[in-house]
Amino acid sequence: MEEMMTAERPAVDTSEPALAIRNLHKRFDDVPAVTDVNISVPPGAFLVLVGPSGCGKSTLLRMLAGLEPPSDGEIAFGGKVVSNGRSGVIHNAASRDAGMVFQSYALWPHKTVEGNIDWPLKVAGWKREDRARRIDEVLAFLDISALRQRYPAEISGGQQQRVAIARTIAPQPRILLLDEPLSNLDAKLRVDMRSELIRIHRATNATSVYVTHDQVEAMTMATHVAVMRAGRVEQFGAPDELLLQPQTTFVATFLGTPAGNVIPVERAGDQLCHAGVPLAPAALAGGRSSAQLLYRAQDITIGRREGCPVMPASYTESSPIAGQSMVTCMVGDLRLTAMADGFFRAASGAPVEISFLRTPDIVFDDDGNRIAR
Ligand SMILES: Nc1ncnc2c1ncn2[C@@H]1O[C@H](COP(=O)(O)OP(=O)(O)OP(=O)(O)O)[C@@H](O)[C@H]1O
Ligand SMILES: [Mg+2]
Repeated sequence: MEEMMTAERPAVDTSEPALAIRNLHKRFDDVPAVTDVNISVPPGAFLVLVGPSGCGKSTLLRMLAGLEPPSDGEIAFGGKVVSNGRSGVIHNAASRDAGMVFQSYALWPHKTVEGNIDWPLKVAGWKREDRARRIDEVLAFLDISALRQRYPAEISGGQQQRVAIARTIAPQPRILLLDEPLSNLDAKLRVDMRSELIRIHRATNATSVYVTHDQVEAMTMATHVAVMRAGRVEQFGAPDELLLQPQTTFVATFLGTPAGNVIPVERAGDQLCHAGVPLAPAALAGGRSSAQLLYRAQDITIGRREGCPVMPASYTESSPIAGQSMVTCMVGDLRLTAMADGFFRAASGAPVEISFLRTPDIVFDDDGNRIAR
């Protein structure tokens, strides 16, 4: 069932971005929730908004859905402005061809599974025969046909999640907005549903905006990622671009499994040193007396390596990963993640030596912004 039928609708103008957000702001009274966001993605993109709790992800999504008017700036779908700071919401939630799955996805408790899926089709004015056909189709697509006559209280959390998704994709929205739709699921089901959502995205080809604070989810699913921090987009790009070229320490330490190590250094002569150990040439800091170096876990190893800078550390913990060990250790107050070959374990607090295998290619200033070279 990879092919989904499509209802009659005007052609999409593919020369326009499916979604364009320009200078968008949202203030609640005087509290800024979203500040000067600029993002645009092509049709069929899977945009992930990721960031810590309270950074403005849901507020941004609610503006995209037309549930919240912007304080300033504008949003366009396929070249058509749907909200702006002067007129507020121009096209309401129902008419902007966007479907939303909420952080808490309450189903209608007094409607059956079938009734839950039927309702948005009715609202959108679908004819009875088309609705019946479409309901059969999405039930089969999400593998919940057997549940059609049950009520939400009579099905599991994971099944409710599927119904919520079925209900949202049934009217074939061009834009699918998902706010942490997997947050109520256990770890195993999350992974299954993640694959399921990728499959749905491929089959429907709806441009999707997906909110999560889980960076692994972000990196698995996205074609485009916006890392948000305190209402602003800290960095926007393809997942590999964000991993390989983080522009701030916030992005470097938020993304990646494990996240990058950021090590503060001071200039001493022609070297940049941490805890008195020379790590890199001073030229990397572009004349500054201090800076921060990005070392990925695979750039640091446990044990002494000839010709590499070595630093004493104390062992904290280790977890096996793909035949190696991911080891956490402390250098003073600084927590670092290193890799060791095979299965490495030590007593908590035991002294270890760590070696820095390569000169960092990414250097940040004291404020956490990347130093251009
Ligand atoms: N209706 C509202 N009135 C006042 N402040 C609000 C309102 N909605 C959100 N905020 C504030 O705006 C900021 C962003 O909230 P938002 O819900 O967008 O965060 P989030 O990134 O989705 O967080 P989480 O990951 O916890 O869901 C927060 O400081 C929040 O308290
Ligand atoms: Mg939220």
